[in-house]
Amino acid sequence: MALRALTGVKPTGEPHLGNWLGAIKPALALAEKFETFYFIADYHALTTVHEADALRKYVRSIAATYLAFGLNPERSLFYRQSDVPETFELAWILSCFTPKGFMNRAHAYKDSVAKNEKQGKDPDFDISMGLFSYPVLMSADILLFHANVVPVGADQKQHVEFARDIAERCNHAYGSGLFTLPEPRIDAQVKTVVGLDGKKMSKSYGNTIPLFLEEGPLLKRINQIVTNSQTPGEPKDPEQSAIFALHRLLLTEGEEQTLRGKYQAGGLGWGQAKKDFFESLNGQLAVPRAEYFRLMKDPGHIESLLAKGRDRARAEAGKTLAKVRSAIGIA
Ligand code: TRP
Repeated sequence: MALRALTGVKPTGEPHLGNWLGAIKPALALAEKFETFYFIADYHALTTVHEADALRKYVRSIAATYLAFGLNPERSLFYRQSDVPETFELAWILSCFTPKGFMNRAHAYKDSVAKNEKQGKDPDFDISMGLFSYPVLMSADILLFHANVVPVGADQKQHVEFARDIAERCNHAYGSGLFTLPEPRIDAQVKTVVGLDGKKMSKSYGNTIPLFLEEGPLLKRINQIVTNSQTPGEPKDPEQSAIFALHRLLLTEGEEQTLRGKYQAGGLGWGQAKKDFFESLNGQLAVPRAEYFRLMKDPGHIESLLAKGRDRARAEAGKTLAKVRSAIGIA
């Protein structure tokens, strides 16, 4: 039987190019080899999104994005975390096996504390219990479905290791068959996607290229990519160019070499380089963009797909939870 890959997406904003190339594309490719579970981690988003309409909009937009890029809900299990209440019961159970010291060492929590201390604030200023126990909820997402591999970005590796550790503690107490031990999977192929300013593309830096801009605004956005003051005639170093760093992610290896040569030869102005990148990107986005807008206009359809996913996910989750409840002496 195929191994199970499970991954969650936090709906915290409009999807951008970095999300597609860095997460969506590699995650969807796994459906070729694994039994795949994709879910929208809306209760994780609640740690930061405290505006109801925004959360609703982001959930719908993430769902439409994955579907537009080819997620097949017949083949993969596609659901919304909040639709599977078994997750939250398991999260409590797991929290009783999670050393508090683990959570003290979680990167996201530690970063928040460090930031507060730097600013002379109370170390726990503005840190909710939701943020603190975020990794326990994530462990529940993973262990509920006996995932073997969890494809994540490097920043999430520690969370998957926590899940594995917590699973081992439970298995030690109740028998090795209780939980499957998950492994993080960081795709080495995935390169960092830079933003308009050449730094990592991230919503918090305000340097993103949103995925579903119409053509005009997309070109306008691409024209904002920062360049140096070299004239069109001068040879250019592709390794120093944010345009090249982005464009190459859309090309085959051969095409990338050709483009590299064009930069180095001179005669390619920044305006033209941006236009070329726009053409490549627009070509690859045209079909998903149309599909995205079609889906966004039909929320009933998205809901019906998520409802089907919910039913299948709950059937599976119910089995795990029944076993766990019996093992711990609750039922
Ligand atoms: N924490 C993940 C992120 O921020 C999202 C997530 C929630 C997740 N639950 C998960 C990822 C379970 C993998 C498995 O990207």
